[in-house]
Amino acid sequence: MPIARVLGVLISGRGSNLRAIIDAIAAGRLDARIAVVISNIADAPGLEHARNAGIETVVLSHRAYASREDYDRALVKALDDRGVGLVCLAGFMRLLSPAFVDAFPNRILNVHPSLLPNYPGLRPQQQALDHGASVSGATVHFVNKDLDAGPVVLQREIPVLPGDTEDTLADRILRIEHALYPEAIAAVLNQVSHD
Ligand code: GRF
Repeated sequence: MPIARVLGVLISGRGSNLRAIIDAIAAGRLDARIAVVISNIADAPGLEHARNAGIETVVLSHRAYASREDYDRALVKALDDRGVGLVCLAGFMRLLSPAFVDAFPNRILNVHPSLLPNYPGLRPQQQALDHGASVSGATVHFVNKDLDAGPVVLQREIPVLPGDTEDTLADRILRIEHALYPEAIAAVLNQVSHD
């Protein structure tokens, strides 16, 4: 069965990847609709990109829920209520429990600023520098129960330059992310699912 071309984007902060997805849809490079943008942080700057594009925003604060599972079930309901077929994590700084992951099997994507499986977790750009890596890049992958470990959809590499700092490397990788994420979403939506 094809995946419904209805996206739910989850953010916690700046939302530049969200904006890249919005722009790709507007430019006709991605045939999909964003039904809702959900943030766990009420004043996440990225919510503004959604509002400017006329996309519904929902703030669900994890602080209002007794457990991770309760919170994740509230997320699932908000997404289900809006007919979301594909969940796109875009700087969503929450670990997801099985209550969430099992509700959207093979239907959750994340973007990560390294060539996974290298440098999962926090500050992957600094990790690349600490390891003396000569290349790094960005990965879009399916989300499963293990952090930054689900099957890779697309990856693109860039060189690490002499003199790179965490910030300069992060900036160059971010530009790659903005191109890669909409491409990966399109690739997944164009696949026929077998489950
Ligand atoms: C990106 O670097 C993404 O790879 C990581 O968090 C950052 C989010 O940036 N998961 P933005 O909020 O999309 O600007």
